[in-house]
Amino acid sequence: MDRRRLPGPSAVLRWAKQSVVRRLRRFIPLISAVPFLALIVFMLARSDYDPGTASLPEICQTPPKMQRLQQSFPYAVPPELEKFLLPDHNTSVPVFNSSNSTVPFRQWSVSEVSDLVRLSNAAQVIHNEDAFGPVDNATLVIVVQVHSRVEYLRHLVVSLAQAQGIEDALVIFSHDLFDAEINELVGRIDFCRFAQIFFPFSIQLHPDEFPGQDPRDCPPLLKRSEAEKLGCRNAQWPDKYGHYRQADLSQIKHHWWWKAWYLFEGGFKALEGDLIFLEEDHWVVKDLLHTYRLLKQESKMHCPECAIISLGNQVEITQWISSKHNIGMAFGRKTWNSVKGCAKQFCLFDDYNWDWSLMYIGMTCTRPNLLTLNLKSSRVFHVGECVTAVCLALTTIFEILAIGIHHKKASCDVGPVLKLVNEQVRQYANLFPESLKFRRATYKVKAPKGNGGWGDYRDRALCLNLTAGMWT
Ligand SMILES: *[C@@H]1O[C@H](CO)[C@@H](O)[C@H](O)[C@H]1NC(C)=O
Ligand SMILES: *[C@@H]1O[C@H](CO)[C@@H](O)[C@H](O)[C@H]1NC(C)=O
Ligand SMILES: *[C@@H]1O[C@H](CO)[C@@H](O)[C@H](O)[C@H]1NC(C)=O
Ligand SMILES: *[C@@H]1O[C@H](CO)[C@@H](O)[C@H](O)[C@H]1NC(C)=O
Ligand SMILES: *[C@@H]1O[C@H](CO)[C@@H](O)[C@H](O)[C@H]1NC(C)=O
Repeated sequence: MDRRRLPGPSAVLRWAKQSVVRRLRRFIPLISAVPFLALIVFMLARSDYDPGTASLPEICQTPPKMQRLQQSFPYAVPPELEKFLLPDHNTSVPVFNSSNSTVPFRQWSVSEVSDLVRLSNAAQVIHNEDAFGPVDNATLVIVVQVHSRVEYLRHLVVSLAQAQGIEDALVIFSHDLFDAEINELVGRIDFCRFAQIFFPFSIQLHPDEFPGQDPRDCPPLLKRSEAEKLGCRNAQWPDKYGHYRQADLSQIKHHWWWKAWYLFEGGFKALEGDLIFLEEDHWVVKDLLHTYRLLKQESKMHCPECAIISLGNQVEITQWISSKHNIGMAFGRKTWNSVKGCAKQFCLFDDYNWDWSLMYIGMTCTRPNLLTLNLKSSRVFHVGECVTAVCLALTTIFEILAIGIHHKKASCDVGPVLKLVNEQVRQYANLFPESLKFRRATYKVKAPKGNGGWGDYRDRALCLNLTAGMWT
């Protein structure tokens, strides 16, 4: 599986980078480097980076540095929320079993995690109902898919804390990792009602068997003929591009699918309100809920056939941040029912991306097609995967000069990105809008062909099993 097949802005940037490199290689490296050097100097001078304290490659380092985030919060954080940006290893992690006890902050074995996950999912505790009243079947639900990037989640929590009206919502954190630091962070939330659910078919709980990566499985990039010679387990099931499954990529689609079924179909307490889907590396604007309610209300008149509300869009902040589509997507039971009706197509589509799979069924299967209402000014930002102009120029020049710096993805420190996002939002003229203008746009888009990564019979079977209610 090669993530590079994933289309989208970052792929476009990568393509641009590669083609620039290809063209420039024809010239003498030093000559071609001169304008780039000038560009970098210019950009460094304009950016917030202090070249005195950060060496060039450091700027592009990934993952973001925890220490830097802690030392200087990249945007104005109200003092009472600063606690969420700092870990507190002195706190115990609550565990919900019949004694409602806590366990000390430490790492657990697979079988312990398995017990904790089972107990937590069975208990279905909704926290802070004593402060904000009981959740009812009309409560708006925000569901956050969480993997491992606690640095990002800290900032999402801080942004949620500042979202007006959050006290009326229920935030559900859906985890595929039982992690002490993440649970401790979530456990300290005091500004709204929240719950945690844990994906039971995770790699963490199946470290060396499906749905995790089985050591007997074929290496993802092995040719089919060689795989058959080798006799590895899934030799017969490469994807449409001839690659074999990669558990960490499959997990994201499984987790998304499980969570949708679990929440809409009553695995969790019956919820009838709409769901807003977020991810750990999203960041929300403080009028998110206000704008959502307004959009929902006004859409009844302007676009009753709209099935999905998208609170984020493909914003490009002066080309610094590339975001993918389907950020901050929201829909309710009516839309879910048409998605559910196409479950088989979703599970058999050879694409490991849940959003592309959803787009595919939305264009080929659901009746009517899934029409989306989009905001012009994004209320949800995707801050986790960004390519800065500085990094792009840097990686290009290092490649040209053949300086051996290899990073899989030139991603930038979340601090400067959040700063830019905040500056962008400060310029919004229409925070807390009183009304909205609607514009109908028709794009000629072909149904996606599939990016592969979903050829393995077991992935399809697990996906269909979830559809049949095997959630635990
Ligand atoms: C940890 O918490 C306990 C009780 O809340 C407190 O007495 C103790 O001083 C704390 N320890 C540290 C290192 O902060
Ligand atoms: C609940 O969990 C705690 C911590 O893991 C454990 O000590 C206790 O025995 C458990 N109680 C039951 C009834 O399982
Ligand atoms: C555990 O705590 C939750 C929430 O505080 C409560 O709803 C539940 O009844 C408790 N369970 C037991 C066995 O005390
Ligand atoms: C939601 O709850 C109310 C009051 O408890 C009830 O009358 C209504 O039928 C419920 N709606 C659904 C869709 O379950
Ligand atoms: C799907 O469910 C069937 C029946 O319970 C089971 O035999 C099979 O192992 C499951 N497959 C996967 C991939 O979970």
